[in-house]
Amino acid sequence: MQLLIEHVSKRYGQDLWALSDFSLTLAPGVLGLLGPNGAGKSTLMRVLATITRPTRGRVLWDGDDIAARPDPLRRVLGYLPQDFGIYPNLSATEFLEYLAAVRGLEARTARKRIDRLLDLVNLADVRRRPLGGFSGGMRQRVGIAQALLNDPHLLIVDEPTGGLDPEERVRFRNLLGDLAGDRIVILSTHIVSDVEAVATRIVLIARGRLVLEAAPEALLASATGKVWEWEIPSGDLVAVRQQHRVSGVLRRAQGATVRVVADQMPGPGARPVPPTLEDAYLTALPAPTAAS
Ligand SMILES: Nc1ncnc2c1ncn2[C@@H]1O[C@H](COP(=O)(O)OP(=O)(O)O)[C@@H](O)[C@H]1O
Ligand SMILES: [Mg+2]
Repeated sequence: MQLLIEHVSKRYGQDLWALSDFSLTLAPGVLGLLGPNGAGKSTLMRVLATITRPTRGRVLWDGDDIAARPDPLRRVLGYLPQDFGIYPNLSATEFLEYLAAVRGLEARTARKRIDRLLDLVNLADVRRRPLGGFSGGMRQRVGIAQALLNDPHLLIVDEPTGGLDPEERVRFRNLLGDLAGDRIVILSTHIVSDVEAVATRIVLIARGRLVLEAAPEALLASATGKVWEWEIPSGDLVAVRQQHRVSGVLRRAQGATVRVVADQMPGPGARPVPPTLEDAYLTALPAPTAAS
């Protein structure tokens, strides 16, 4: 079970490179693909899900080029796209039975599997209700269930926590952690806390490029000594924001406490504090340019 991404680039139109020379080797575990909006996360996932082909480079699944021979991967692939849509008039069971049929799963096997999956995602009680009345979290759980219909070896979930409330988000994370087992799970998000608890590896992507790949602890360690808390007068806030990467602001009756990510002490009175993964993420991202 190995996924090799080799120098993959994807161009849209004349000169928009959504992915540039992206290389990565994946083994079982949960990979958190972390990056700002527009970084290329969905593009990479569509390439891996064989929805779209790379402009350059290739992806190998157990040695097979997935563009030339997509079937071996497709048989063991589960994919929850970012814009997953449901049929509001179907019940959860009907919807999953329909998708199983479309994918050529044998009906009796599919029915048993659907029963187990509805239990797993905690929707057994509402299985006969129309999906139109489901909350965002319930719909995402249907989305996960459909991605698991074929007991995939490679599970790709694209920003699955978008639109979930904090409690649903936590539950969803736990579910993904439980699912990992002996699969490759790729979870994309622009929210650091989504991957903190569940990812065994983290890949940062920005402007189509891989910025770094690390274990969460290593990413944290990389920011140690680069995060500062600094009390400043409120009037300085705009200037400080222009000159530094500010990862947080606490407003006080007098002045403000800013959290700054910087290699050197940003100014007199600033004191170093332990980094969060969010700080580490800001440290690792390329500096914003005037254009972006
Ligand atoms: N089908 C498409 N046609 C043209 N440009 C696209 C298409 N899909 C994505 N893009 C562009 O590619 C870049 C990366 O997008 P995307 O992969 O969706 O990023 P992310 O998922 O990280 O937000 C963006 O600039 C986006 O506008
Ligand atoms: Mg996306």
